[in-house]
Parts: sequence; C-alpha cells; structure tokens
Amino acid sequence: MCGIVGYIGKKNAVDVILKGLKKLEYRGYDSAGIAVVVDKELYIRRSVGKLCNLSASLEKNPVNANIGIGHTRWATHGKPSEENAHPHMDPTKSIVIVHNGIIENYVELRAKLQIYGQEFKSETDTEVIAHLIKKHYKNNLLHATQKTLSEVRGSYALGIVCKDEPDKIICARRDAPLIIGVGKGENFIASDIPALLPYTRDMIFLENGDIAEITADKIIIKDIKDNIINREMKNIQWDAAQAEKDGYKHFMLKEIFEQPRTIEDTFRGRIYPDEGKVYIEEVKLKEEYIRNISNIYVVACGTAYYAGLVSRFLFENFSKIPTEVDIASEFRYREPILNEKTLVVIISQSGETADTLAALRLAKSKGCQTLAVCNVLGSSISREAMHVIYTHCGPEIGVASTKAFTGQLTALYIFALDLASKKGKLTNEELKKYLKELWEIPLKISEFLKNTESVQAIAKVFAHKRDFLYLGRYVNYPVALEGALKLKEISYIHAEGYAAGEMKHGPIALIDESMPIVAIVVESKVYEKTISNIEEAKARGGTIIVVANESDKEIRDKSDYIICVPKTDEFVSPIMTVIPLQLLAYYISVFLGCDVDQPRNLAKSVTVE
Ligand code: F6R
Repeated sequence: MCGIVGYIGKKNAVDVILKGLKKLEYRGYDSAGIAVVVDKELYIRRSVGKLCNLSASLEKNPVNANIGIGHTRWATHGKPSEENAHPHMDPTKSIVIVHNGIIENYVELRAKLQIYGQEFKSETDTEVIAHLIKKHYKNNLLHATQKTLSEVRGSYALGIVCKDEPDKIICARRDAPLIIGVGKGENFIASDIPALLPYTRDMIFLENGDIAEITADKIIIKDIKDNIINREMKNIQWDAAQAEKDGYKHFMLKEIFEQPRTIEDTFRGRIYPDEGKVYIEEVKLKEEYIRNISNIYVVACGTAYYAGLVSRFLFENFSKIPTEVDIASEFRYREPILNEKTLVVIISQSGETADTLAALRLAKSKGCQTLAVCNVLGSSISREAMHVIYTHCGPEIGVASTKAFTGQLTALYIFALDLASKKGKLTNEELKKYLKELWEIPLKISEFLKNTESVQAIAKVFAHKRDFLYLGRYVNYPVALEGALKLKEISYIHAEGYAAGEMKHGPIALIDESMPIVAIVVESKVYEKTISNIEEAKARGGTIIVVANESDKEIRDKSDYIICVPKTDEFVSPIMTVIPLQLLAYYISVFLGCDVDQPRNLAKSVTVE
C-alpha cells in the first residue's frame, strides 16, 4: 500500500505533491520520491525514511516545475533504499513512473527484458513497467502504456510522465485506488481523497482497466483497446478528518472493511490455484532443510500469537511437522529445546515488539532457522530474521489489530501449504483445492461486509453486559480468543475465550441468564461437538450468539442470535469467522462511547519488555 500524487498546472508541482504525499503517509512511509519535468528534462529526487527527509533534500536544492509525480512507499518487493524508492525510470531516463500495487509476472517480464541486455537498477517489481513502456514508445505515451499493460498481470495504480511529452500525465488503475482531481487549468491524481482536498472537491474515481491522459485542461479516459470511457465526476463533501478515514468513523472500521483487499494483496503473486503453485519469493529455505525440519516453534504476542495458534493446525495437518506455539514473553525465559532442525516462526505486525524480538534472537543463538511474518518493512524483526514473509496490509493505525491478523493468517496458510507440498505431503490436486479456498475468501468477506446490520443489532442488545464468554473449537478456538481480546481492548468489558469442549471443566460455573456466549459454529469436523457444547451452555440459561454458516438450518433452534457467514473450508475459516467478532467488538465500543482507535492503556507497538 503506497501513496501516489501527481500534478499538472500552473502551481509549483513540488509543493502540491509534497503536501499531498504528507496526507498519504498513512499509506506507507519507508521511502519517498518525486519526479518533475523542467525544460524537457526529468529531475528525480528520492530519500529513504519518512517524507520529511525528501522535503529537507528539496529545501536544500529547490526545483520548480509545473508537472510532476510523487510517491510514498510501503515496500513489497525490495528493501527500503534509495534505489528501490519510486519514481523509477527506463534506461534512457526519458520515462518515469510511480506505482502502487504488485506486478505478479515481473520476474518473467524482467527476464525477457534482460535477454536484450537491459539493466535494472532496483529490486522492485515496478521498474519493469518503465522499461516496457520505453520499449513500446513511439511518440505516444498513452499508446505505449496501453501496450505495456496488456502484458502485465497484477494490481496497479500508476502515474507516468515522459520528458518528451511534458504536457501530460498518464495514469492507470487495476485493483489499487486512483483518483483524478479536477481543477481549473490544473489537474491532479492521487491514491486517496485527502491528498487533493486542499485544491479541489471535484473528483473522478477511476475503475479497473481505466487509463487516463491528463493535461492541465483536459482529461481523457480510455481502456486498453483505446475505447473512450465515461466516468462521472463526484463532488466530495467530506471534511479532512473524514477523508483520512475514507469516510469511516474510525480507523478500526476502515481497516476491518479493507480486509478483502489486504488479504488479496498478501496472497497476490504468491499463489496460483489453477496450476497448484505457491511462490514465496522472500523465503529461501533449502529443500534439503525443509525435508529435515524436526519441529516448528511459533512465537508471538497478543493477536499475532492467536494467528500463531491457528498456524499450528496448518503446519500439523498439511506438513505433518510437530508444532508448538508460545507467547514470546514466556518462550524467552524457559528453556525451549531448539536446534538447527527447528524452524522458529516469529509473527509480528510492527516487527518491533520487544519480547518477540528477544525470542527471535534466542532462536538464532541456538542455531535455528528463523522466519518472520511481519507487516512493517525494515522493522527490527524483519531485518534480523533469516527469512521474512511480509503481509501486505499497509500501515495499521487502529490500536486493536484487525487487518494485520487476517494478513498473518493468510501468510501462514500459504507458507504451510508451500512447506507441505515441498515435503511431498500434499498432492497437486489437494494444493489446488486449498489455494482455491483462499482465493475465494476476499469475495466472501466482501459479501459479508455488505450487510452488517445483524452485528450492529446484537451489539446494541449486549453493549451493557459486564462479562462475555467466547467459545470455539479446533481452528476456531484461537478465533474465540481473538474475539474476546478485541472486546476487552476496545470496550473494557471482561471477556474470556475458551475452547468449547473445555468449558465444562470450570467456566461453565459462570454461566447464568446474564451471560452472553459468543460461539463459532461453522462447518468443520468438530461441528457436532461444538453444537453439544452450546447446548450445555444454553441449558444453564446462557444467551447464545452464534457465528454460523448461512446454510445451517439446525443452528437456528439452538441459538438466540445468529450472525451468518459464507461457507468456507475449515482451514481458511478463521480468516472469515474473525470478521464478525471484530465488528461486534467495534460496535459495542461505539455504543459505549469508548475511544475505539486509541483505547486506554494500550500502545500500538510494545517496545518494552
Ligand atoms: C491486539 C494487538 C496486540 C498485538 C501485540 C503484538 O489487538 O494489537 O495484542 O497483536 O502487541 O504486536 P505485534 O504484532 O506488533 O508484535
């Protein structure tokens, strides 16, 4: 998730772009860059770190131009460095681009270009687009872009400028947001509304497949085949604060609704369900090592730990590798039995959690291979781990973790499948089936998110309860823990997550008429067992709220409230079932008037022990 801004008009493009990028820093901040055209020459400035570094460099050596594009990066391919920062150029330095998204077939495209002797300056997937546009360029930037995009697979929002056509910006969109801001004698592009609000409220939202040619006075939108496309202009009435949250009331809600996209971004370019292939570029575990892994330790804190608990089922079921999951602050002070055949998987959204980092260092000191599942590029954990799978969720701003959790589940799912297939524990047909299940999840979540009224109604009924019990079994037991954690964190209601079958060994004593019990009862091998556990709770007077599959008729008689979710395979079901629990916690918190995004006593990144 990166941020793009472009400007053409009479103002100084540098000022407009820097101000716009500042508003988009929430989309990424590991490096930033800008390209402008002055007298038919391209000027490019790039800096590692936050935008202030780029601004400082531009203050020292100012440049004034009427056309330009800029970018703030949240890296997916290639570490944060000046070479990998956008904009990227073609080898003749005449075409420059900024990109948000992931080019899935860049390895293949780059290899083809390298045959013709083309040299690449960065490790990014983006640079290949600049090279391809140049290859197709015959004095028409729009046509060269159309040709290029017909060869590219993946997601993109692109801003493109050519020194030989200094009166236009070309932009294009597929599965990554891009807006055109319509001005008088000036026009703009940006990834998101807040960047443009100081200049215009008239905006055109590009759709997938749109390619636009923008001059100071004209906007022409076409498709790849050069057909003209008409898009309605909208007048945006949001204030600046609303715009930053994309119109949502809180960042947490925005992040919950972003999940179909962040899950897709995390598996995009890494899984190929039709062929039954997983390709995780960053993980370079040797086949021989994989064959000999004796055991896996998964170590993390909080929500990331719960993602780890789900991964145990995946590693054991798919790869048949004994797996233990531990809380980082416990792991580091016991004497875990580790050796060079142990793979230690470290999960952390921030990559800075002190206990998790210490666990990683301990594992390394014992000679283990270490693999981090991390969201923040360049963070301590991602730098120190031997292998990293990045979740491509973009910055998570709400303190209570939501999209990072489903990103972690996604990354762990594809890694477990990859391990299993490399160990010969899954047939290609099985792999295809499991990959397809994941592929369909974003659509299923989007369907569910279209109507959240049932969750809001339940939240209203139960917002004033003092205690909640969350029950789940098997892969959905960690989801019960996560649901309870979300409620505790943002509404300050006492909530406990329990393995449904364990309830009769103690917590059942807590159940009476005033106790709401949230149970996850979706289709799986423990469905019948979980139903029995619910009946036990209901018999004690508990009010039962279930998260169940739409098709489940039986559950209606056994529960008091139902939240229906689409049916999925059991192993991917946690990615689906957690969504209503995030929403339930959110709406209860809102009803209680709590500070949803910054709950008391909590910090986004816990860098102390
Ligand atoms: C809960 C939450 C925390 C974090 C935990 C680990 O909503 O956000 O429990 O999951 O502090 O943080 P990371 O993943 O950054 O290591």
